[in-house]
Amino acid sequence: MHNWVEINLGALKRNYTRIKQFVGPHIAVSPVIKAEAYGHGLLQVATALLPLNPPWFAVSKFSEAVLLRDAGISTPILVLSGLLPNEYPEALEMSITPVVYAIEHLDYCEEAGRKRQTPYPIHVKVDTGMGRLGIREEGFNEFLAKLKHCSWIKLEGLMSHFADADDKNSSYPLIQIERFRNFLSRLKSELKITPTFLHISNSAGTLRYPTAHFNMVRPGIVLYGPIDFARTFEPVMTLKARILQIKEVPPNTPIGYGKSFITPTSMTIATVSVGYGDGYPRMLSNRGEVLIRGRRCPIVGRVSMNLITVDVTKVDSSLSIGEEVVLLGNQGGECISADELGRKAQTISYEIYCRIGSNPVKRYVES
Ligand SMILES: Cc1ncc(COP(=O)(O)O)c(C=O)c1O
Repeated sequence: MHNWVEINLGALKRNYTRIKQFVGPHIAVSPVIKAEAYGHGLLQVATALLPLNPPWFAVSKFSEAVLLRDAGISTPILVLSGLLPNEYPEALEMSITPVVYAIEHLDYCEEAGRKRQTPYPIHVKVDTGMGRLGIREEGFNEFLAKLKHCSWIKLEGLMSHFADADDKNSSYPLIQIERFRNFLSRLKSELKITPTFLHISNSAGTLRYPTAHFNMVRPGIVLYGPIDFARTFEPVMTLKARILQIKEVPPNTPIGYGKSFITPTSMTIATVSVGYGDGYPRMLSNRGEVLIRGRRCPIVGRVSMNLITVDVTKVDSSLSIGEEVVLLGNQGGECISADELGRKAQTISYEIYCRIGSNPVKRYVES
């Protein structure tokens, strides 16, 4: 195998358990497993978490929810990006719960509920300041007035989403929490009910704002590994490749496409079997580092589609062809985190996981 992604389901479960312990027994911890569980594999992640009894799985799209149901998973599923009009009847039949964030969604739910003679459970999303999906404050009265007359809808949840809970210097989450409380009290006084599930927190909200737990949280990123506001979570994904060739080269040797690196002295260069075609960002040309025998080695030259070149001059001279190279994750006592790759590639760990996770070769381990 030239390169592969290893997923440690043991670390995933420990990360989930850790969040549960942090929030305590009265808060529902609903893992976010959209986008192939941030590249880690939708069904494998869901199946691994099942014994820990997650109250919900949160996905983005109806198609992801259907994959879970087709795999025989009966846990409640929340579809964060909501449904398209034609998906409402089938979702009800499959006990898939939509997030509702527009007044016309009520018509689709009401009609599907009436046809099936079953109340349609929904979570209503309100916009407390993210400015993406959600009902805005000024439209909420009209929304509630309509909801009041929907006899085939069961309002099961009220939710919102933080814009910058991960930003240490921002107090905006406190404003969002306050706005969420206002939405909730308007809802209570109009409809005379409190939905069963109240939730606004992503990972950062969960770990940084205990007053934002309400009775459910929706962590995603910390399930999959460390991040600057949660450094002690365990990495789940490792990207590995192998050394294909090792060569001693004299000073002034150009390395790789565009001759972007010229050896300043004589060097030992290892060519390693991974590149941007395997999900490793090309932005890491002349910038990234990899782990070989537990030691950081710099990438020299451009990242190509399936190969990179690495300076191994300082590594043990007994290095051999076929040796394992770690590009993301732990080796020996060293760790290259998705956060580090994200920073160097001018993106975020989320995108690093999704890109590297698109590598089709995955090995699931439990340690
Ligand atoms: C609505 C919603 N809730 C929760 C999450 C989880 O966020 P995080 O991965 O930052 O914990 C996301 C992810 O983007 C989301 O869109």
